[in-house]
Amino acid sequence: MLNKINSDVVIIGAGGAGLRAAIEIARSQPDLSIALLSKVYPMRSHTVAAEGGAAGVAKDEDSFDNHFNDTVAGGDWLCDQDAVEYFIHQAPKELTQMEHWGCPWSRTKEGKVAVRPFGGMKVERTWYAADKTGFHMLHTLFQTSLKYPGIKRYDEYYSIDLISENGQCYGVTALDMRTGQIKFFRAKSVIIATGGAGRVFPFTTNGAIKTGDGMAMAYRAGVPLKDMEFVQYHPTGLPGTGILITEGSRGEGGLLVNKNNYRYLQDYNLGPPDPWPRKKAMELGPRDRLSQAFWQEQQKGNTIQTPFGDAVHLDLRHLGEEKINERLPMVRELAINYMGVDPVHEPIPVRPVVHYTMGGIDTDIEAATRLKGLYAAGECACVSINGANRLGSNSLTELLVFGSKAGANAAEFASKTSEQVDEALLENMAKQSADKVAQLFHHQGKETIPGLRNEMNTIMEAGAGIYRTESSLKDAVNQLTQLKSRFADIELTDKSNVYNTDLIQALELGSMIDVARAMAVSALNRQESRGSHQRLDYVERDDKNFLRHTLATFAGDDNPTIDYRDVVITKSQPAERVYGGESK
Ligand code: FUM
Repeated sequence: MLNKINSDVVIIGAGGAGLRAAIEIARSQPDLSIALLSKVYPMRSHTVAAEGGAAGVAKDEDSFDNHFNDTVAGGDWLCDQDAVEYFIHQAPKELTQMEHWGCPWSRTKEGKVAVRPFGGMKVERTWYAADKTGFHMLHTLFQTSLKYPGIKRYDEYYSIDLISENGQCYGVTALDMRTGQIKFFRAKSVIIATGGAGRVFPFTTNGAIKTGDGMAMAYRAGVPLKDMEFVQYHPTGLPGTGILITEGSRGEGGLLVNKNNYRYLQDYNLGPPDPWPRKKAMELGPRDRLSQAFWQEQQKGNTIQTPFGDAVHLDLRHLGEEKINERLPMVRELAINYMGVDPVHEPIPVRPVVHYTMGGIDTDIEAATRLKGLYAAGECACVSINGANRLGSNSLTELLVFGSKAGANAAEFASKTSEQVDEALLENMAKQSADKVAQLFHHQGKETIPGLRNEMNTIMEAGAGIYRTESSLKDAVNQLTQLKSRFADIELTDKSNVYNTDLIQALELGSMIDVARAMAVSALNRQESRGSHQRLDYVERDDKNFLRHTLATFAGDDNPTIDYRDVVITKSQPAERVYGGESK
């Protein structure tokens, strides 16, 4: 018999979205009990690593229409426009709420909240706290959550399987990493807020914890993963480590140059007409186009060789030491510590690195999934406001807006639901989930977890990177299928119960392989180029056939089945992404 813990709502993941959801439940329905599960201590959630800022209309010269249009065009018209409309209106309210909870937004000389430009924006609207925005937001949310007694934290609990029956979700099983004990967290509603899956790729800004666990959990429970082919490369990561050098550094005036010290971006069509001093968008073009421009420069032999592969230079020297220290202190620290380069005196080598999964758990505008009682928010979810390419700084705001929405709706559901379910059946399912994990201890095989993980990373970079083709994607799909069967042949080297990281990494790898297959199969089926999904064999965007969301449904050992759903268009008809007076 498994240890069973009853709560009204279970939240899986205690980063920005999970904490915001928890606060919303506790604030709106103080009588509800909330179990907040996280595989790390909340302050280690990946939200902490976000640097540049959070978008929301703040200036008189900006407007909701601008934010809407930048988001939809940036997303290459794959965004659901009803969701975008809701998002842009909620954004300033959520960011102001953060201010009231104590988030130390950077200020102008007049004492107003300062905003900086980010890629693909017509008017600057990125609120920031120096270049540690995620750190300050996470602190603010965490500290706020502490005042609500209804929130009970379960730190260092690794969630394994959703427990559902007859189309409704009733909780989750989770491993207490300290003891190795698996428990059944029984709840009336469940929220997944586990972040993205960048670790499927080798070069990523994502911390080691971003392994797509929540996506895989929902997927295995029958909820489709939506638009998984859209994986964002951030143009400026450090070679080798993949550590993020914030877009804020370009917002503050940083320049990208190739090996000839030439601002190569002037040769590409990259961003909206630039209201700032520069004529073209250049460094402030959207991320997909900047990453693609790097690839083109690489093909032309214009990149710089480093011990960790090709790079270009991000030059901040003209900003001067004072401004760098005030606005970009962490960028300076990271460049010195991880590259041995002080940006006050030298340019920083950078390259595109996987940063964000636009796709995720299929949710509607209410943050609800098709499984009753199951909600998702943040990067693990696809609502979808990001379409084929997310605008930088929309995601920190998204986790507030839809974290809050998921919390409100999960609370409502928990307080109204009248359940008629066979409790013994649920307990038996939870036991089967625990038995499956126990069996991993008895596996005897020749495959290692790091070995398979490295292979998966290589397959994804080679087959489903910045540019893809039918043959590269077919190779990726085939190799991932083999990897999935080889995964059955892993053997744990650590058989102990206490903090068994070998076991956790095995479970994470299982999730990543499922998520990677959903990405590769979805990409193979989308025979067009749109946003971050660029096919060398289908170079045009094809609205006639693909102005649709991809829905990948889990099919066990087989590849997922693929369906499509129309995009919600309310007021912005698909058009060319016309930038800087040029077209295409
Ligand atoms: O560059 C950055 O600071 C990243 C921001 C984002 O992904 O929204």
